[in-house]
Amino acid sequence: MMGGPVGPGAAALAQGQPLRPLVPLANAAAEPGRFAATLVAERASVGLVEGRSTALWLYNGLFPGPLVDVREGDRVRIALENRLALDTTAHWHGLPVPPEQDGNPMDPVRPGATRVYEFDIPVGSAGTYWYHPHAHGTTAEQVSMGLAAPFIVRSAQDPLAHVPEVTMLVTGIRLDANGQVSPNSPMDFTAGRQGEQLLVNGGRLPVHAMRPGATQRWRILNATSARYLRLALDGHALTLVGTDGGLLAAPVGPLSEILVAPAQRVEILVTASTTPGARFTLRAQRHAIDTMGIGSYTTEELLTVATTTEAPAAALALPAALRPLADPGPAVATKRLVLTQSGMGMMGGFGINGRTFDMDRVDLVSSVGEVERWDIVNDTMMDHPIHIHGTQFQLAGRESRGIATPAPWAAWLDTVDVPAGTTATIRVRQDLPGKRMVHCHILEHEDAGMMAVLEVRPK
Ligand code: C2O
Ligand code: CU
Ligand code: CU
Repeated sequence: MMGGPVGPGAAALAQGQPLRPLVPLANAAAEPGRFAATLVAERASVGLVEGRSTALWLYNGLFPGPLVDVREGDRVRIALENRLALDTTAHWHGLPVPPEQDGNPMDPVRPGATRVYEFDIPVGSAGTYWYHPHAHGTTAEQVSMGLAAPFIVRSAQDPLAHVPEVTMLVTGIRLDANGQVSPNSPMDFTAGRQGEQLLVNGGRLPVHAMRPGATQRWRILNATSARYLRLALDGHALTLVGTDGGLLAAPVGPLSEILVAPAQRVEILVTASTTPGARFTLRAQRHAIDTMGIGSYTTEELLTVATTTEAPAAALALPAALRPLADPGPAVATKRLVLTQSGMGMMGGFGINGRTFDMDRVDLVSSVGEVERWDIVNDTMMDHPIHIHGTQFQLAGRESRGIATPAPWAAWLDTVDVPAGTTATIRVRQDLPGKRMVHCHILEHEDAGMMAVLEVRPK
């Protein structure tokens, strides 16, 4: 039973092994409140396919990369050693780190060089983040070769601290007949990388054992290039408790499905069926991301939940409220970003306000601490998940063909889905001066130039 799109002649991935826990990045700091470590970006080989090894680019030789697990208030110092043959960076996706520490495309780490990133983790930032390269023009390639890993920030006051948790990093991989990662096709540069098989913590269709009736908190990260994950678990309802920037004000559910756009994260509560010895599939359901028929994904199986034969677990007491979620407040400035597509593919097709990315140009200017309303207008025939660096924002609502849909619940996001023909309205504030990226997180679109430079000026 294959779960997904396999290209002609592609080597078959081993599947159905137990879900692998992520390997934590060891903290080398002696003092409390400090986190220090080294990441080496390097070539490595991994056994994904029977009888062959697959060449990948990995952090510290791990697939997926190591989990950074820190607490609010920590000071983080991570050295990135580049042993690859091309420029790279480490971008701390979603975290409020100073721009010069954020692995921007204008700060490449050259082959053979080491760069130290140093930043504080503010109180209030607990949530599920990730890190990945952001070298301009090769981000899609570097992520598809394996460079992506989770970054969790914990709060001392976590209302769900008593709930056992599991982190699931979803990535995509597409192998050729020799078991090697296949390069992007011309179509991939327009539609986003297609035909990948989804992996959870590096495994294809892994099995996750749960005691019947047990409740767990799942942190799910979408680290694919372009795949929207419309998640549903057979026979189970899902309860949403967190998004990109951490917990919601209160649990939302029961939900039959949850859409996680590329780069987004969710925290969900899952209570396993009380039926012992049963199997349930977590699926990424069919989802079209364009109006041209090139970016449609069929349903793909992600993971199997297998209930054990133990007696059902007692129900966990779950809080009715999670944390206060502040309203961003009234906007004092507005911006309009129009997502544009002039042609197909790599050659200047995608832009923002009609311009393709130029790291030496400033496209947008904001002031530190000012709440702004942004209308992000999608004038193209494809959906685009739009990401802003360095902050978390709130979606106010979307509008399409005169029909307004307010955001169903307040949530902190760093990436918002803007479907074709739709305008998304957000309220956003930047608290640190410097240059921030704003871009589509379909990595092929980002590389093709659907990215703008936002300069945040001190007040
Ligand atoms: Cu996930 Cu510009 O980044
Ligand atoms: Cu980012
Ligand atoms: Cu896009």
